[in-house]
Amino acid sequence: VGTLGEADLKGKKVFVRADLNVPLDDAQKITDDTRIRASVPTIKFLLEKGAKVVLASHLGRPKGVTPKYSLKPLVPRLSELLGVDVVMANDCIGEEVEKLAAALPEGGVLLLENVRFYKEEEKNDPDFAKKLASVADLYVNDAFGTAHRAHASTEGVTKFLKPAVAGFLMQKELDYLVGAVANPKKPFAAIVGGSKVSTKIGVIESLLAKVDILILGGGMIYTFYKAQGYAVGKSLVEEDKLELATSLIEKAKAKGVSLLLPTDIVVADKFAPDAESKIVPATAIPDDWMGLDVGPDAIAKKLAELTTSKGVTTIIGGGDSVAAVEKAGLADKMSHISTGGGASLELLEGKPLPGVLALDDA
Ligand code: 3PG
Repeated sequence: VGTLGEADLKGKKVFVRADLNVPLDDAQKITDDTRIRASVPTIKFLLEKGAKVVLASHLGRPKGVTPKYSLKPLVPRLSELLGVDVVMANDCIGEEVEKLAAALPEGGVLLLENVRFYKEEEKNDPDFAKKLASVADLYVNDAFGTAHRAHASTEGVTKFLKPAVAGFLMQKELDYLVGAVANPKKPFAAIVGGSKVSTKIGVIESLLAKVDILILGGGMIYTFYKAQGYAVGKSLVEEDKLELATSLIEKAKAKGVSLLLPTDIVVADKFAPDAESKIVPATAIPDDWMGLDVGPDAIAKKLAELTTSKGVTTIIGGGDSVAAVEKAGLADKMSHISTGGGASLELLEGKPLPGVLALDDA
């Protein structure tokens, strides 16, 4: 989008697909506005160049029109961050949307209702995509978090709006997750967590071909310990993935990658707030106890120090990791915090992202 100037944008209606899929609590209050803040630079740029922004997103996974998945609760925060009164539509297509879009002044923003209120969105229905596109002149996709979905608002609309280009957030995510990973500063270390090996196989295999050090964390480590013959007590284990864990350990060895697992573990006697807990060596989890967290061992301390030291490029992705970094007050020390969960994993696995491939500047 940075290559578009005032001549391309002044007075033009730009359909901006953002990923405003933010968590809301029961009172419809936003509990983390990271994705809204991350979407602001592109929208502001367009508004400053005199464009009219028609903003679209999904929220959650609604089946049909579902009030609790409305984008309405986002309007005050968006308006505050953009410094304009964002107009909200009751729908994402149809007569009202057409009228509101036609009435938009230069520098105005119209937020469409959740595109997933129509099943045609996820089906990438061409008629639906055409209707979405009909109210705008060109397309900017800044929804990196949804770029792994070939949906009407991420892929289908590009057939009807030209040019179709990437926004600043999309560009930045790709620069870090493709650029920094393809040409990393050495040594290159990756830390992968998650409760199941099965959902992380692709990314672990792909990283084994690139990194010098691979550190595993999260619930999946017990499957790795068990595969190596250690006692894991009542910890979560994917029994059918033991062979896979062994083969990943062997692959790492063959490639000269140091595969590191935590050396001490916080165990509990049950999974409950009033459980008793203690720290034990990872290779000796007592019977009837379950591993719940990584212990405060030397690796953990070294990691915290390394990831925040000067000259180190640190890329963080995935909801829980991002939340942990924010909670620890380390967010501004990271080089890049990705807004994509599934999208960043698929990208690291080397899978093509349909939302990116459909763009003219892909
Ligand atoms: C996400 O939260 O990862 C994105 O917004 C995509 O959402 P989805 O997994 O429901 O497609």
